[in-house]
Amino acid sequence: MTAKQISGAKKLPMRRGGKAARIAIIPGDGIGKEVIPEAVKVLRAAVGPSQLHVEFVEFDWGADKYLREGVTLPAGAVEMLRDEFDAILFGALGDPRVPSNQHASEILLGLRFKLDLYVNARPVELLNDRLTPLRDRTERDIRMMVFRENTEGLYVGVGGFFKKGTPDEIAVQEDVNSRKGVERIIRYAFEYARQNGLKRLCMSDKSNAMNFAHDLWQRVFKEVLQEYPEIESRHLYIDTLAMEMVRDPRQFDVIVTCNLFGDIISDLGAQLAGGLGLSPSGNIHPGKTSLFEPVHGSAPNIAGKGIANPFGSILAAAMMLEFLGWKSEAQALHDAVRSALREDFVTPDLAGKRKRQRWAIGWRSG
Ligand code: NAD
Ligand code: IPM
Ligand code: MN
Repeated sequence: MTAKQISGAKKLPMRRGGKAARIAIIPGDGIGKEVIPEAVKVLRAAVGPSQLHVEFVEFDWGADKYLREGVTLPAGAVEMLRDEFDAILFGALGDPRVPSNQHASEILLGLRFKLDLYVNARPVELLNDRLTPLRDRTERDIRMMVFRENTEGLYVGVGGFFKKGTPDEIAVQEDVNSRKGVERIIRYAFEYARQNGLKRLCMSDKSNAMNFAHDLWQRVFKEVLQEYPEIESRHLYIDTLAMEMVRDPRQFDVIVTCNLFGDIISDLGAQLAGGLGLSPSGNIHPGKTSLFEPVHGSAPNIAGKGIANPFGSILAAAMMLEFLGWKSEAQALHDAVRSALREDFVTPDLAGKRKRQRWAIGWRSG
């Protein structure tokens, strides 16, 4: 199966010359369809001057297609993305017309699992002092990387119902943790700290209550940390971590945790740095096709109003450029967002008054 054969694939115009990359664009539902086109515009502007040869191919996977055709991830899609693309830029999935969220699980979790994107990197970085709700905190205080395990845990969908629909109903949702899965995310976090000169790493779990799954996390953590003596390793229970992130975020450089806890504390971290609209993430398997997306969802409450914040998606595009090895272009995007924030070219969630048409010029001064 090639991109051409996947229904709904739309090839976008490409640039010629220099280094090459193929990027799949999946806007998805709701505000995904608003923020991703903005990110693609800015991406084009960032790679243009460097003669990078970037081809974008857009896919219409999401609720509309699911409701129209009953298709979530088309047959062969995973192999096609794996074999023909370097990276995926993804918006969000979720639609009130699909209360089961089946399409979102099959597409988003499907890609995370089937492409084995075991690292979910969610940076928490305050880009402008005025954006944090914490009193007296500045850019220097809020700067950490959250690594969320992305292929296991409570997300694997193992479980079932017993006596469904009766007063005696039982629902079981299994928490699956493999030695390999736990070790590779913890090791990735330590390597990231080492390679970026970061001194402090915190592993967070709930081993005081989850005495099997998180006992494994404890044992693996204690083993792997021996290999990184220069890094100050620390453990916090997840409830305490949530409290400490708010009380004094300066304590954290790198955090590593399981799938569900990472989901929750990355929204908490997002708010420390100005809100969900500003938070990017990378679903990564080193050396393989990886997926970059904003942390937020499809936000049905504001979809279609033209007020969704595109910066999370633009910063996700920057993470993608970095993953592709294009560091200066990634930096340019990052700087552009920072200067747009400084100049107050922002959407209403950041208390700005300016509207959509100003976004396109927001990046120029970076
Ligand atoms: P959400 O992230 O969509 O929205 C939470 C709140 O933040 C809303 O008030 C929303 O208006 C606001 N918000 C989010 N992104 C924003 C942006 N870019 N600009 C301005 N405001 C923004 O979370 P939710 O409401 O819990 O979920 C809505 C749907 O999205 C659900 O179907 C959920 O499952 C799905 N979802 C998908 C993803 C994803 O695809 N990665 C992530 C989270 C939620
Ligand atoms: C996220 C989202 C997803 C998750 C949902 C939509 C399944 O909240 O990417 O953070 O929990 O991983
Ligand atoms: Mn989430």
